[in-house]
Amino acid sequence: MADQLVSDGLRSELRKLSVLKGTAPEFDPSAAPESPMELFGEWFMLAVRSGVREPHAMTLSTVGADGRPSARVLILKDVDSAGWHFAISTLSRKGCDLAARPFAALTFYWPELVRQVRVSGPVVADPPAVAAADFLARPEGSKQMALTRRQSQPFDRPEELDEALEHARQELNSTPDLVPDEWCSYAVRPDEVEFWQGDPQRRHQRLRYTATGNSWLRTRLWP
Ligand SMILES: Cc1cc2nc3c(=O)[nH]c(=O)nc-3n(C[C@H](O)[C@H](O)[C@H](O)COP(=O)(O)O)c2cc1C
Repeated sequence: MADQLVSDGLRSELRKLSVLKGTAPEFDPSAAPESPMELFGEWFMLAVRSGVREPHAMTLSTVGADGRPSARVLILKDVDSAGWHFAISTLSRKGCDLAARPFAALTFYWPELVRQVRVSGPVVADPPAVAAADFLARPEGSKQMALTRRQSQPFDRPEELDEALEHARQELNSTPDLVPDEWCSYAVRPDEVEFWQGDPQRRHQRLRYTATGNSWLRTRLWP
C-alpha cells in the first residue's frame, strides 16, 4: 500500500516534468568535421561558453566479469587522438570491471544545449607518467581519500575512515610526491562516437562516427 502511494505520487510528478527544454544550437551533420575528437572539442567548448554545468561530468559504463553492466559518473580528464581519458583506482569496482573486460561506454548529457554524446570502445591504460601527473595535480583531500585504498568496499565503521585518512595524511606528509600503484589513467579508444542534437519536435539529429582503420565513417541515424 505504501509502495502504491509512493509510486502514484512519483508517477504523477514524472508526468509533469518537461524535457528537451534547452536551447538547441544549429547542427549540420553534413558539415561535421572528419574526426569525432574535433567535433567533440567544438561541442565541448560551446558547452563551456554556454554555461553548461559540469560539462566534463560523464557516465562511465563498464561490464563486470559476470557480464553485468555498471555505470557511474566520472570526470573527463582529456581528449586527444588516443581517446577520452579518465583516471581511477584499479581497486574500485570500475577498476575491477575494466581489468576483467577492458571495454567501456561514456555518455555526456548537456541539457542546456539538448545535446548528448556517446563514446564506446576498448579501454587502454595510459603510460604511468600520465596517471602520476593526474594524481599529483589532485586536491589534497582527493589524494588522501584515494590513499585509503578502500573505494567501493562495504563501509561499516565511520571511525575507520578517520583512521585511514589520518594514515593517508601521514603518508603524504612524509612522501609528498607519492603516487599509489593502483592509480591508473585510461583512454577509451573509440570505435564508435555518436553526437545527438535533440529537437523539441523529436526531429533529433544523430551523427555516428565509426572507426575504419585510419579514418572515420560518418553515418546519419534516424531519430
Ligand atoms: C559529478 C561527479 C564526479 C565524480 N568524479 C569522480 C572521480 O573523478 N573519481 C571517482 O573515483 N569517482 C567519482 N565520482 C563518484 C563515482 O560516480 C562513483 O561513485 C565512484 O567512483 C565509485 O564507483 P565504483 O564503485 O563503480 O567503482 C563522481 C561522481 C559525480 C556525481
